Amino acid sequence: MPLTPDKDWWRQAVVYQVYPRSFADSDGDGIGDLRGVTSRVEHLRRLGVDAVWLSPFYPSALADGGYDVDDYRDVDPRLGTLADFDEMLATLHDAGIRVIVDIVPNHTSNRHEWFRQALEAGPGSPERDRYVFRDGLGPDKDQPPSDWRSTFGGPAWEPVGDGQWYLHLFAVEQPDLNWDNPDVREDFLKTLRFWADRGVDGFRVDVAHHLAKDLSADPLPSAAELPILDEVVDGSHPLGDREELTEIYAGWREVLDSYDPPRAAVAEAWVAPARRHRYARPTSLGQAFNFDLLRANFDAREFREIVDRNLAATAESGSSNTWVLSNHDVVRHPTRYGLPDDTSGEGDVGRRWLLSGGAAPELDPVRGLRRARAATMLVLALPGSAYVYQGEELGLPEVADIPAQDRQDPTFFRSPGHDVGRDGCRVPLPWAADAPSYGFGPTSAAHLPQPPWWGALAVDRQEGVDGSTLELYRAALRLRRELLGAEALEWLDDAAVGAAAPGGTVLAFGRPGGWVNVTNFGAEEVPLPDGEVLLASGDLGHGVLPGETTVWLRR
Ligand code: GLC
Repeated sequence: MPLTPDKDWWRQAVVYQVYPRSFADSDGDGIGDLRGVTSRVEHLRRLGVDAVWLSPFYPSALADGGYDVDDYRDVDPRLGTLADFDEMLATLHDAGIRVIVDIVPNHTSNRHEWFRQALEAGPGSPERDRYVFRDGLGPDKDQPPSDWRSTFGGPAWEPVGDGQWYLHLFAVEQPDLNWDNPDVREDFLKTLRFWADRGVDGFRVDVAHHLAKDLSADPLPSAAELPILDEVVDGSHPLGDREELTEIYAGWREVLDSYDPPRAAVAEAWVAPARRHRYARPTSLGQAFNFDLLRANFDAREFREIVDRNLAATAESGSSNTWVLSNHDVVRHPTRYGLPDDTSGEGDVGRRWLLSGGAAPELDPVRGLRRARAATMLVLALPGSAYVYQGEELGLPEVADIPAQDRQDPTFFRSPGHDVGRDGCRVPLPWAADAPSYGFGPTSAAHLPQPPWWGALAVDRQEGVDGSTLELYRAALRLRRELLGAEALEWLDDAAVGAAAPGGTVLAFGRPGGWVNVTNFGAEEVPLPDGEVLLASGDLGHGVLPGETTVWLRR
């Protein structure tokens, strides 16, 4: 199916996130690559996704899974070449699937040409001005400029041996760029053009809220004085979500709009929900991730509140909604939903469970998957775009017991005893139960160990199997394409669905054209509402909607 020339394709697209190093390996070195993606386009076509978002595939030392970029306009030789990229893009386009690439503008890697030049050129040089260098404190300048902590743990400043320190909000190998510097601004426009000229359809913008910073205070505020970023709503935080971003992204939008069709962009911005629209409006990136469901329990009230809040937010920005249940940074949702409710609102239960090696709190994997399937169907019925993370379509859970010596995520190394990091959702995918590396590649090599039970979830074990998660996703995406209309939603109260839900545990809504979604969040069955049953996330009893199940109806 060829691509349609629709400039609004992204508004209600199902976007499949490929984490390239863990998706499919064509050459047997244990690292997924671009030819691997090309070889699996048929899987994506049959799944029925509208677009693929590729996490970084650029040259990188992999200090942060590729988010430490050495060169923004090339392909990591372990993952292929630019020619492989072009071939992958053409194959995806031929299958009617658009391509979004990841842009990492807050930091480069410490192996980037610019950073090497900055180290050589010394204090006060124009080369250093592309990054955030400051003199250390104290007579010998051997104290960091502030006590700030990096997101991955440990100090956010690193000394370079001549009295200066550089800022890295993430890993030591990820020096923050200085977005007041014109070279930096110009170079990212060049990168956008480079990929847009090759034919990519859109960009995912990594930590889009951090680029602009104000480090003019002397002394710098202490970590204790810094407000929590996503609680600040007036743009006054020195390290993120600042007003200067408006101008930066207006410049990006100009470049993106110079293409036909205009290139899409989606911001990863961990900011207060009330500020998200600043990234999502049409004069800015156009869309921003809504991560609210990543922190929510499987709970009707929480889901309803999040849906309402985000529908209001997109009405304000003019953008469309983005629904996310899993990605490469969080505990996979079948696992999250199999753990006890999180009362912190921070998704802490999953982190604690990982820290314990999967021992505590106790996981109920059957319940987790049942709820995950119900939540996925609900999200796919909502107005807006849905982001599906690779392996979700197989119902993959998080892998908890990765041995310490195999872990890769910098969070693990920088937060000993506090966080084990994100490797558990990045384990190479199982494609074939009985093949070496479960079909990930032609050899048994896999850059993160695959657990012995991985094969049971492989694509070839689920294909054609009634009720398998793979077939559920395929059916849901096929139906969604048929049913999708305007971005409108109408809540249906209990009377309208005829489901007397104990304690408000059923969420039901209609979409234009008679498509009705009913999700029973409770553990008890409720009467099945009237209508033609199109699809259900689990077996329907006779005349009932079982607990933790979603049904789509036509009325
Ligand atoms: C984003 C990415 C994450 C990465 C971080 C630093 O949050 O999703 O994987 O570690 O940015 O680039």
